[in-house]
Amino acid sequence: TKTTVGILGAGPAGLLLARLLFVAGIDCVVLEAKDRAYVEHRQRAGILEQGTVDALRECGAGARLDKEGLVHHGIEFLFNKERHPVGFPELTGGRTVMIYAQTEVCKDLIELQVSTPGAPPLLFETHALGVDGANTPTPSIRYQTKDGAQHVLQCEYVVGCDGFWGVARNAIPDELSKTYERTYPFSWLGILADVPPSNEDLIYARHPRGFTLLSMRSPTVSRNYIQVPNDTDAQAWADEEIWDEIERRTETTDGWKVERGPITQKSVTPMRSYVHEPMSYGRLFLAGDAAHIVPPTGAKGLNLAVGDVITFANAIKHKVATGSDEKLQKYSDNCLRRVWQAERFSYDMTNMLHTDPNESEFVDKLQIARLTRIVNNKNAATDTALAYTGFPLD
Ligand code: FAD
Ligand code: DHB
Repeated sequence: TKTTVGILGAGPAGLLLARLLFVAGIDCVVLEAKDRAYVEHRQRAGILEQGTVDALRECGAGARLDKEGLVHHGIEFLFNKERHPVGFPELTGGRTVMIYAQTEVCKDLIELQVSTPGAPPLLFETHALGVDGANTPTPSIRYQTKDGAQHVLQCEYVVGCDGFWGVARNAIPDELSKTYERTYPFSWLGILADVPPSNEDLIYARHPRGFTLLSMRSPTVSRNYIQVPNDTDAQAWADEEIWDEIERRTETTDGWKVERGPITQKSVTPMRSYVHEPMSYGRLFLAGDAAHIVPPTGAKGLNLAVGDVITFANAIKHKVATGSDEKLQKYSDNCLRRVWQAERFSYDMTNMLHTDPNESEFVDKLQIARLTRIVNNKNAATDTALAYTGFPLD
């Protein structure tokens, strides 16, 4: 089989890219190792930047999002038992973000793809084994179907949207690759709970016992995270222990209190910063988690993946329209400028809000000083609001 663009992975990056290419009249095939239900129910990100929302709307995936998505006009920082709002529209020329879960983005894009006549093939339970000939005019993807049979997909271009554990990145020779990485001495224990969100805005709370994030999935479902040591077993935490800990860490002097409810899911996510440079090699392009990871504080992961595939789609449309490779050649540099800004923001947010068991009280004081500056200084607040609502595409 043959296609113009072979896509590894049907996470948000691969699914959105397939849709963008279909709308542009460029054919592609998507290979996804897991089954549809797995992809649709993998609980991950929740915040969509304005640019991500706009992209989903423009490609026809905005209907349910516009009905069910929750527009957020700011966040709150909680520290020293006080809550401090940071509003977005007034600091950013009108920008907002939207709560709409990654699971729902994936469901909508998959539904569009399987229900649109002539839409690109989306092959589930199809495991990519490797990318060959990346630096030739005829790159290809070796893959294996559920029955164990091996096949080759001939492509003109290959886009690796296969996440951090994918295989596409391996096709870039080691001597041309450089990776930048940081791990953190803490993880997040995330829960889903059948209880309305306790606060209208998300709360990012710094506390001597550790970071807590109060988020949501809908008007009836809360999504909360607490900082825990690495290698924590989520099941070792009883539900009431989790709520007790959230309550301790989000105590305020104004009488506000978190609401408890039945916990329906809990899991632990490690934190990592990672960038692979360059993000392309010959006719192979990496997008999303395949090329970079951010710690989740600041909600950049999904949005970065969307920025990458929009950049690639624009570059290949330019190639088809004009014959020029110029934008494809600039893909990596253009993406990396935005990626490093998101790496910086995610790193700063993480370090400002988490307690590091290896650090001294000096760092506690600096964290409070940084938070105080954001909530008291309009320039600092603007800087945070601009970063949170999204970095522009080049
Ligand atoms: P992925 O979503 O990882 O998709 C990659 C796809 O490729 C997967 O479907 C995978 O099955 C498939 N694949 C892998 N290897 C192969 C192969 N060999 N052949 C075929 N298919 C393959 N971000 C936030 O902003 N907020 C959060 O709260 C948040 N929480 C997270 C929690 C966890 C546990 C993780 C792992 C990530 C979280 N993120 C969060 C990050 C965010 O979810 C990712 O940035 C986003 O999913 C990136 O999308 P992607 O399409 O690039 O990669
Ligand atoms: C969510 C996750 C984040 O990392 C974040 O910064 C905000 C919200 C969430 O899953 O809802």
